[in-house]
Order: sequence, then C-alpha cells, then structure tokens
Amino acid sequence: MCGIIGYIGTKQALPILLEGLRRLEYRGYDSAGVALVAPDPLGGEASGSKIFTERAAGKVSELENKFIDNNLPGLIGIGHTRWATHGAPKEENAHPHGDCENNIAVVHNGIIENYQELKNELAARGHKFRSETDTEVIAHLLEDEPKELSLEKKLMNILPRLVGTYGLAVIDKNDSKKIVVARLGSPLVIGIRGSEFFIASDPSAFISQTREVLYLDDGEVAALSPQGIEIIEKGISKNKQSELLEWSAEKIEKQGYPHFMLKEINEQPKVIEDTIRGRLEEKDGLAHLGGLKEAEEKLRKIEKIIIVGCGSALYSGKIGEYIIEEYAGIPVECEYASEFRYRKPVLDDSTAVLAVSQSGETADTLAAIREAKRKGVLTLGMVNAVGSTIARETDAGIYNHAGPEIGVASTKAFISQVAAFALITLFLGRQRQMSAVTGVRIAEELKTLPEKISQIFSQKEQIESIAEKYAKFSNFLYLGRKYNAPIALEGALKLKEISYIHAEGYPAGEMKHGPIALLDKNFPVVAIAPKDSVYEKMKSAIEEAKARQAPVLALTTEGNNEMENLADDIIYIPKTLEMLTPILSIIPLQLFAYYIAVSKGYDPDRPRNLAKSVTVE
Ligand code: F6R
Repeated sequence: MCGIIGYIGTKQALPILLEGLRRLEYRGYDSAGVALVAPDPLGGEASGSKIFTERAAGKVSELENKFIDNNLPGLIGIGHTRWATHGAPKEENAHPHGDCENNIAVVHNGIIENYQELKNELAARGHKFRSETDTEVIAHLLEDEPKELSLEKKLMNILPRLVGTYGLAVIDKNDSKKIVVARLGSPLVIGIRGSEFFIASDPSAFISQTREVLYLDDGEVAALSPQGIEIIEKGISKNKQSELLEWSAEKIEKQGYPHFMLKEINEQPKVIEDTIRGRLEEKDGLAHLGGLKEAEEKLRKIEKIIIVGCGSALYSGKIGEYIIEEYAGIPVECEYASEFRYRKPVLDDSTAVLAVSQSGETADTLAAIREAKRKGVLTLGMVNAVGSTIARETDAGIYNHAGPEIGVASTKAFISQVAAFALITLFLGRQRQMSAVTGVRIAEELKTLPEKISQIFSQKEQIESIAEKYAKFSNFLYLGRKYNAPIALEGALKLKEISYIHAEGYPAGEMKHGPIALLDKNFPVVAIAPKDSVYEKMKSAIEEAKARQAPVLALTTEGNNEMENLADDIIYIPKTLEMLTPILSIIPLQLFAYYIAVSKGYDPDRPRNLAKSVTVE
C-alpha cells in the first residue's frame, strides 16, 4: 500500500525522508520518490525557491543510489512509496507528481475516481501530463489557482472537485515555507518534536523521531510551517490535542497485531469490499470489469477456459472452475501452471487461458501464460500486484485490489481471488444464459460477505482454544465437497506451511479410496460441512471418520445443531449462497492454522523454506 512521509524543521530533510521511506517499506510498494522545496542555489536571492524531485522504480535503495553524488538540499520535503493502482510501476508514475512548471509537488494515497474527467478538462486547457496516475491531476488543479493565494487556500479550493479518497501532502515553490496536508478516507498523522513537524500515512514512518502525534480526521486540512500547525475544517481554524504514542515501531507497522498474517486475516472484510467496489450493478445483477472490456466480444464467444496458477492461487481457480461452469455454463479446466507449461494442451480460437497470481511474478504461471500466447489463444490475468509481469503480458484481466500481502501464507489475496471469480462468473454468466434474478441474488449476497466474515471473527477465542487442543497432533486430513473441496486443500496448505504439521486435503468422496486407511485416534479430520447440497454426503464422511476413532473438527452453518451429535468440535459460519461459502469457510481454517503455529512457538510470518514470490522454476 502507498506510504507518505514529510518533514519541515531545522534539519536537512532528505535523510529523514529516506529513513521514513525505508520504514514504510513493510507496506509493500513498487516505486518511491521525494521532493524538497529550497532556495534555488543557481538562481541567487531574486529567483526564490525551487522544487527538487527525485524518483525511482523499484526499491527505496534504488532511490538512495540517486543521491550518491547529488544530495538534495532543503529543510522541507515530502516522500512517497507507491503501490501501483493507475499506471504501471515505473519512474514516471512514482510520486511526487508536479504541475506543468514544476512549481508544485504532491504525494497522495487513495484513489481519485473522477481523475479521467479532470484530466480531460485540464488537458483541454493546455496542461501537459507526464504520468498515467490519478494523482497528477491534483498538481495541475493547484497550478490553475491564483498564484498569490496561500497553499492551504489553493488546496481548499480544489478539494471539492476530487471524488474519491485521499491522504495527501503538497509543497509549493510560491509558498515555500510550508507543507500542506489533507485527509479524506486515507490516514494522515502529524508528528511533533518542538518546532519540527513530520507527516506520514502511518506513524511508523517517523516513530524513531517522535512519539507525539496528532491524527487528522476526514475533511481536515493542515498547514505546517515554522510558525506551527494550523488545522482547518470547512475553512475555519480549529484546535486539536496531540497525543503520545506508546507503541513500538514494529507494533505500529502491524497495527497492533502480533503478526502480519493475523493482521491480513483481519483485513478480509475490507478486502472483499475493495475487490467488489465499483464493479457490481446490483439492480440488474451485472458485474462491470473494466480490465475485461477490450476482450468483451472475444469472451462472448469463448467455449472453454483453462485456469492456471500455483498453490493457493490454483485452489481459488478450482473454486472458479466450479462456479463458472455452474453459473456461466462455460466448460472450465483448472490446472497446475507448472504442468500446463510442459503438457500439450489442445487449444483453439475459442479457448481462453486465465492465470491467477497474487504477485503476478510466479515463474510457472508466467511461463504457462507465455506458452498460451505462443499458441495464439486469448490470455487473461487475475493479479493482485498492479503492473506486475503477468498483468502486463496478458491480453486482459482483473486486479484483486487486496492491497499488499506481506504474510508469506496467502490469506487475504486468496479470498479476494474467490470473490473476483464470483465477479467473473457474473460477467460471463450475464453475457450468456444467467437470468437477471440470479445475477441480482449473487450481487446482493456478495455485498453481505464483509459483515458475515466479521461475525466469524467473534468466535476467535473459541477457535484459538480449539487450535490449542489440536496442536498436539502430527497429521490432519481436511475434507470438503463441491465448492468446499478446494477449501479442504487450501486449509491443509495453510496448516502445513506455517505449523509444519503434515496435512492433506481431499474431496471427501475420495477418502474411502485410500486416505481412510490412515485414520485412527491420533489422526484428526477437519470436515468442511456447511448445510448445502452435499451436506448429507459430508455427514457420511464424518461418520466414517468417527467410526475409525478419528477426532473430528467440523465447520458447519449456524443453526445446524445436528452437528453436535457428530463432531468433537464445531465452528459455525453464517449462511450464504452455496457458491460463496468458500469465502466464509476458509476464514476459521486460516485462524486455526495461525493459532496452532503460534501455540507451537513458530513465527507464521516467516515460515521456513518458503518465499513470498516464487520467481524461479
Ligand atoms: C500459499 C501461498 C502460495 C502461493 C503460490 C502462488 O499460502 O502463498 O502457495 O499461492 O506461490 O503465488 P502467486 O499467487 O503470487 O502466483
């Protein structure tokens, strides 16, 4: 996620900004930059101040390399780490962004939804744009404000024109002794150390400098200058009390959670909102997927989809396979990207290959897509990391908008993939036979999922104590059927990745064809058995496991009291549409794996032998 840092005071700003950017690295980003405002060293007294900007694609260290022989002077500056949303992660798109004359520099977190409209209007007035970002319009709007106005006045004049969310900071060579910041829906905090001020999107960026902070609220603008801090709301100055932070830097990065994995599990209600935001037209039961627009006509005619991916991404694809076939009526195969690349799949004009990848860089998935391209078929991507290789190399696609995933074990990216498959199903289904009534039902239900996930979180303590009880076992069998068969695989993967316990996931019907031989009182079964069309089959599997003395932990739908007579332990999930149950059923399994790992003393954020992005074959 993007990060903001800023400094105004008596010290050189650049080292403070670079340290702040390094502290923001944990949030995930793909480019970084800084801008300082300082007297122009070449211009002499009369020429006043100048904006000095430096940016780089890639790591903060790439940006630092640019200062080896060229130290930017100045006591006032802003910096940014960018996680691409509009435009690829390259230097031109990195923040800070300037106006035509480079009199202004802006860093921004959030999304300006009406940026295209504003950009067209500004371009018609002669403004020259240098990036593909939404942020750049802010600098150009400021440029059109009367030069004699203070920077805060200019900003307050243009903010009503922005639709969307922002946490932003601006410097201006024509009002050069200040930083002005504003917030609407994207956090901004001011750090105070005497007459020195820091700004950041989260205080971890400056926690090593000061613990005295002042949080901006939505709708507030603040002007920071050697004279102090002025907070303005609706044009009127107001007083605000600072507070003292007691947290350590590390705790702040994790926002109070002991691990990124737990933080990311907890973000999942918001992740579902972000994945579906602006993409559902509830009243007609439609999904609008801008990234598939160019391929819309081709997609209308395709007769087969092959989904490729690895690990959790593959398992989300398996759910996609089931729901697309059932609701959109298109034959789908889902397979290991690593196998697809070496097989000789039969592909023709009516086939599309869809790659699923959080990182967008997984070597096997990328190779599968390249192989499909070589064969001339339509390639699609479902990717979380904007501007990543798979996103760039596919013909069309859909971004997950799950935000950066830091925990090595995929959690929030996985559920956003499943939600994105529901959107694709709606998109393809409504192009074909799916009725508006069914479309409306799916769209409405998708919107209820964030609240239902939050309801599952209310059982956290109970899940934790169940996890402690089961932590002593060395083997687990996870079982599910139909939409939840892939959840059995994903649940088992989560457990083995972070707790190093052997766990196998199976479609429940397969148990009697082999794995049942393993079961005894020391081999528990985790049964995913919501009250759905295959519930009776799952019940039989649970009974078969119990007959072999296997301890059974069951997941079922709230209100299904019958399970109390069947399973040893039960976790309940709220009722939802059958095709969407995986989005709910995976949540307790993520928590179960997390709590087992923690109870065994392992760090779930750093599982041994695993890398977040597998860019080698
Ligand atoms: C499991 C996990 C991995 C990834 C797999 C694919 O928790 O994280 O199995 O899902 O390596 O990675 P991406 O999605 O980046 O292609």
